[in-house]
Amino acid sequence: MTADLTTKYLGLVLSSPIVPSASPMGQKIDTLRALQDAGAGAVVLPSLFEEQVEHEELQLHGVLDLIADAHPEALTYLPEFEDYNTGAEYYLRHLESCVRELRIPVIGSLNGISIGGWVAQAKRMEEAGAAAIELNVYFIAADPDETADAVEQRYVDLVEAVRAEITVPLAVKMGPFFSSVGHFAHRLVAAGADGLVLFNRFMQPDIDLEELTVTPTLRLSTPSELLLPLRWIAILRDRVHASLALTTGVHTAEDALKGLLVGADVVMMASALLHEGAPHVRTVLDGMTAWLDEHGYASVDELRGSMSMRNVPNPVAFARANYAKLVTSFVSPFDWRMTDSGPLA
Ligand SMILES: Cc1cc2nc3c(=O)[nH]c(=O)nc-3n(C[C@H](O)[C@H](O)[C@H](O)COP(=O)(O)O)c2cc1C
Repeated sequence: MTADLTTKYLGLVLSSPIVPSASPMGQKIDTLRALQDAGAGAVVLPSLFEEQVEHEELQLHGVLDLIADAHPEALTYLPEFEDYNTGAEYYLRHLESCVRELRIPVIGSLNGISIGGWVAQAKRMEEAGAAAIELNVYFIAADPDETADAVEQRYVDLVEAVRAEITVPLAVKMGPFFSSVGHFAHRLVAAGADGLVLFNRFMQPDIDLEELTVTPTLRLSTPSELLLPLRWIAILRDRVHASLALTTGVHTAEDALKGLLVGADVVMMASALLHEGAPHVRTVLDGMTAWLDEHGYASVDELRGSMSMRNVPNPVAFARANYAKLVTSFVSPFDWRMTDSGPLA
């Protein structure tokens, strides 16, 4: 018997729980078709960015020419999107073609931080055939004068604004940096999110020691990064009325199985697919099926959430756990134990 991989996410019925998340892989229909043929249950297109939409509107109204005349250097701060996706019109046409050409649901992605005209693109994505919209609020709370509540309210307002534009399901991709992730998740759901995508992976700036410059870096993830979303999906499963997608650190069948065990409805993949190519989806699905069969599971539904915080015998393992025991059990090749006269030599 082969385990049934059918999955429900955001009310959509998917043939498998593997969903390639927003990345450059979504730029070409051929690549998306290869992901579908390898068994992806749905795909998320790369984001359409707030800055991109506003950049276009400024162009439309000739404002950029005025800025360029007065402050030529200002234009260099505007992001270059030409290599990612070339504006809202292009994005919507691409989305339409993907919906036409693919059998699996296509999820449109919007990425921004403020309420404005760009939010209307959510409706246009829905009209272009998006099965759902993923809203990525990629916001770094870098202003010490902005309170935690104000930061959360920014998300809530944005979610309400996008929700008001669309009737298709809305997923919110959020970061892990909130004082109370669980409480904030509830606020997002109350504001209209049908699903939560945990977690946004923020690109970290680095320092170039020779040039003494700050260099934004984009490194692909490693499987060790899986542990953070794993914990939070386990904690939130059955405690928020929303679909849960796990993103960050899923590279192998084992990673994907762990995500489902703690309660993810789908596991999303970007880095591993960018590295290995679209057929890697099949490798992961084959590995999952083999494990499910071997361990007597008839379906992923049977497995899903069976190791969430609610369902494991030692739920504290997902919280502070035996943190003290864990740190003291660390074994080092050096003897760092304290004595009355200081660390042992
Ligand atoms: C090159 C690249 C481009 C990405 N573009 C987007 C994007 O447009 N929108 C978005 O929400 N996430 C984007 N992401 C984030 C991924 O969708 C994903 O959430 C993140 O990489 C963590 O998952 P992973 O460990 O499987 O890579 C991008 C990631 C990479 C590596």
